Amino acid sequence: MGPEVDRGLFSLSGKRALVTGGAQGLGRMIAEGLLRAGAQVAITSRKAEVCERAAQEMSAIGPCTPLPADLSTPEAAVELARRYREAVGGLDILVNNAGKTWGGPIETFPDKAWPGVMAVNVQTPFTLVREFLPELTASGAADGPSRVINIGSVAGVAIEPLQAYSYSASKAAIHQLSRQLAADLSERNITVNAVLPGFFPTSMTAHLRDNEGAPKGVIDNHIPLRRLGRPDDIAGIIVFLASRAGAYVTGAEIPVDGGIIGCR
Ligand SMILES: NC(=O)c1ccc[n+]([C@@H]2O[C@H](COP(=O)([O-])OP(=O)(O)OC[C@H]3O[C@@H](n4cnc5c(N)ncnc54)[C@H](OP(=O)(O)O)[C@@H]3O)[C@@H](O)[C@H]2O)c1
Repeated sequence: MGPEVDRGLFSLSGKRALVTGGAQGLGRMIAEGLLRAGAQVAITSRKAEVCERAAQEMSAIGPCTPLPADLSTPEAAVELARRYREAVGGLDILVNNAGKTWGGPIETFPDKAWPGVMAVNVQTPFTLVREFLPELTASGAADGPSRVINIGSVAGVAIEPLQAYSYSASKAAIHQLSRQLAADLSERNITVNAVLPGFFPTSMTAHLRDNEGAPKGVIDNHIPLRRLGRPDDIAGIIVFLASRAGAYVTGAEIPVDGGIIGCR
């Protein structure tokens, strides 16, 4: 029998997803993509009113639950898992998207730029996977595994002139953690992959753009496909990985970067 592309290969109907940092930026693009593919989605944001407004707006697409959370400590991740369980119940797709950066010259790069970045970008994603093991194990099956998708970065692979020392180290760490978890959780029918965005116009990259929104010299000199990332670019890879189409992919590091890594 051939592939069933026309019969729900990319459908997420009946699936439950949690997207950390899903109220804005890449997380919002991801949450909207999952909703459009038919999933019900819970999102987090640090500010309750931002989280609630975003969830209300996205409810026009599909069921979206706001779960405000500041994920700078493992305790907060444990508490988020508890509140998710109470509000939604089971979990099929966990997207660890929330991320924090810090850039500055090495001479004055402060020690305080390390623990917060490592906590949000590496430790909290790990804690969430650990806490959600019962749900992810329950919803994973041999021909339909549950999914963990960690948002890494090209900065964790390629050398970028960002002087974001703790950030690039944290992204390399989440890539490696994803592979380790993929190996350890395969027998529970849980896939774990890292998606590595290149350059998307969000608040995290605002300092690299000028008033017109174009990055200073970055597109021409740095991105082989000569444009910034768009919502469809990130939503497409996430829906693929989360759907039946992505069921056989685990332990992968997938760049979505217009060729920055692949064309080096
Ligand atoms: N934009 C790019 O080109 C690019 C490239 C490579 C990788 N990435 C990665 O993509 C992910 C999303 O970033 P973005 O570009 O969309 O930037 P962004 O708009 O600044 O979003 C950052 C997200 O992380 C959340 N967050 C930050 N600190 C948090 C904390 N302590 N607790 C809970 N949530 C926290 C924010 O939630 P709030 O709503 O509370 O602010 C927000 O949703 C990050 O992991 C980033 O490293 C982005």
